[in-house]
Amino acid sequence: MLKVLITGAAGFIGYHLSKELLNKGFEVVGIDEINDYYSTKLKYDRLKELGINFSGEKEPLNHKAFEFRAVSTYDKKAIETLFSTHRFDYVIHLAAQAGVRYSITNPYSYTQSNIEGFLPLIEACRHHKPKHFIFASSSSVYGNCKKVPFEEDDVVDYPISLYAATKKANELMAYTYSHLYNIPTTGLRFFTVYGPWGRPDMAYFKFAKAIMAGEPIDVYNNGDLMRDFTYIDDITEGIYNLLDKPSEKNPSYEIFNIGNSQPVKLMDFIATLENHLNKKAIKNYKPMQPGDVYKTYASTEKLEQHVHYKPDTSLNAGLGRFVEWFKGYNKQS
Ligand SMILES: NC(=O)c1ccc[n+]([C@@H]2O[C@H](COP(=O)([O-])OP(=O)(O)OC[C@H]3O[C@@H](n4cnc5c(N)ncnc54)[C@H](O)[C@@H]3O)[C@@H](O)[C@H]2O)c1
Repeated sequence: MLKVLITGAAGFIGYHLSKELLNKGFEVVGIDEINDYYSTKLKYDRLKELGINFSGEKEPLNHKAFEFRAVSTYDKKAIETLFSTHRFDYVIHLAAQAGVRYSITNPYSYTQSNIEGFLPLIEACRHHKPKHFIFASSSSVYGNCKKVPFEEDDVVDYPISLYAATKKANELMAYTYSHLYNIPTTGLRFFTVYGPWGRPDMAYFKFAKAIMAGEPIDVYNNGDLMRDFTYIDDITEGIYNLLDKPSEKNPSYEIFNIGNSQPVKLMDFIATLENHLNKKAIKNYKPMQPGDVYKTYASTEKLEQHVHYKPDTSLNAGLGRFVEWFKGYNKQS
């Protein structure tokens, strides 16, 4: 059985990817520090869906093909122990301090999780040689790049949030390790990922919550923003397709966008959400937030050429599935 390490397994994307790879017959070891950046209950509930129950404290009872450890990636010793007790075929590093706005007020969370927490993984890959190291970067590295769609070889030297700067730093650190130690490496720039079991700190989730409660939603830049929303299953499918396809170049290092390649106006997005919730939003128009970008728009040509796959779930279909989950989850909790 092929064994894969997924960091950030209690997080939104990590949970879905763990489930997908378990369904496809992989053995998955998931790690997560389960921090309280947002509801830890949601993180534990995702783990429950993966067959992990917590008796009392944080002691996991492990499911056969899924093993979980509460570990921080900046805990160098714990990462070394993990790699010396398992032989991973693939390492997929998703754990990070996410969020653009939070990086304005909590900068140290970003250097701790995203920089100090990155090195132990690439060091472990250097010594233990998995077949492929895949890590999460972000569309935010494009900053306020005017040229659209965003392409992987565009200059991304002007990040406008610390979050984006740490993701760009990850790309550089990973390149160096790939070059020095022949680690087959792929960095993925995700574009606004949404779906069931999603992140409560993201706009679509906050909007749904506020609309259902009859509370106002904050609409930044007076609604004049565009986002390339990507449905979660398209992300996990994309990662699965890439597993056995590290770059054949020397060094084996590649960056890919994974986005829907169909930017949506914020106001159209809100209207689609209102339709699914069957309720109108009370809109509170606000100015642009520091660190936010005006538009994201992924070119997926490079990904398509490499794996013959591109995300294709429409916003309408994806938001419908999110709303269905959102209503059910709120009812039971
Ligand atoms: N969701 C998106 O729209 C999006 C867009 C671009 C990039 N990304 C990137 O994708 C990855 C996954 O994002 P997500 O949306 O699932 O976020 P998430 O916050 O839901 O998941 C991240 C998980 O990692 C854990 N974590 C954080 N730092 C850790 C550390 N140092 N050690 C161990 N665990 C740690 C958290 O507890 C959390 O459960 C992140 O790297 C994020 O930056 C996400």
